[in-house]
Amino acid sequence: MNISSFNKKAFQTDLIKWFEQNKRQLPWREDQDPYKVWVSEIMLQQTQVDTVIPYFENFIEKFPDPNSLADADQQEVLKAWEGLGYYSRARNLQSAVQEVKETYNGEVPRDRKQLSKLKGIGPYTLGAIMSIAYDAPEPAVDGNVMRVISRVFEIEADIAKAKTKKVFEALIREIISTEDPSSFNQGLMELGALVCRPKNPKCELCPIQAHCQAYQQNSQTKYPVKSKNKKQQSFSYYVFVLENKSGEILIEKRPETGLLAGLWQFPMVEQGEIDQKLLIPFAEELFQTNIIEMDQLESIKHIFSHVTWSMDVFHLKIDAIAFERNSQQLVKHAQLDKYPFPVPHQKIIKQL
Ligand code: ADE
Ligand code: SF4
Repeated sequence: MNISSFNKKAFQTDLIKWFEQNKRQLPWREDQDPYKVWVSEIMLQQTQVDTVIPYFENFIEKFPDPNSLADADQQEVLKAWEGLGYYSRARNLQSAVQEVKETYNGEVPRDRKQLSKLKGIGPYTLGAIMSIAYDAPEPAVDGNVMRVISRVFEIEADIAKAKTKKVFEALIREIISTEDPSSFNQGLMELGALVCRPKNPKCELCPIQAHCQAYQQNSQTKYPVKSKNKKQQSFSYYVFVLENKSGEILIEKRPETGLLAGLWQFPMVEQGEIDQKLLIPFAEELFQTNIIEMDQLESIKHIFSHVTWSMDVFHLKIDAIAFERNSQQLVKHAQLDKYPFPVPHQKIIKQL
């Protein structure tokens, strides 16, 4: 890394000018409303821009400001997040706006310290809100920014390590534009998305080519340095869609913590030692019911960030069901769309 020969002023100008001329029209760029910036930045963590756009528009229509989100039913919030994944983002966002409502009169705080104490606001979101909504020269370092900056300065630090982010934040503090930190940060994000791509960066079109050490050394593909993280864990499940004679279906709520917390699902058990040939007596025992008919639906495989689910799915027609756990509920088929389900369970609903 070599920052002494770096022309900071020219870098800022080249980046910001390019951003102003090339930025995409995105719904969260229509104004500087801190709440909208916040919602968009939470959604954009781990999720592509094109996927986020319709979710963002729907979310803002349903919950246009912190108070309306604070007062909403959690299930309704999860429903609006359904399919985006990483559902703790939605739960944390709602807790945070409840604090904004109670402590700050429904106004997203401008104060860095107050903002940083809100649930789900880490250094990235903090920097994004401070710079984009409030024009403060704070770094907002995400994966795109690390890729661009690691190439510009040939940074060797491993971006898979959490502490490496601090290296980038410190460097951005040195070079960020104090006149237009919003365009500076968004320019880096946009450049990472449109030009300085992971594979085959379009260096010949790049507005900051003259400042880029990797370009000069033709070492672009070496950066960012990223060690491999541990491999996916796999789980196999039997999933049971139990339907009684009135056409009601049994669903259950997942625990309030852990993967997919608070979402709904069809009951499922790990396959483990259970022999598929003995599935009917197994299910009759488990659900304390008589099975009249059993059809196997299409199997489903779903890859989450760190785990993979393989699901063999059975549609069981039953007499009646005596369930005790209050996390379970019998609902009409037409009512299933009122509940937030993880994506693989939504795929089951489509098959019914
Ligand atoms: N990725 C993260 N934040 C973004 C933003 N504000 N605009 C476009 N892409 C982004
Ligand atoms: Fe990325 Fe190439 Fe631009 Fe350097 S010159 S910032 S590697 S696109």
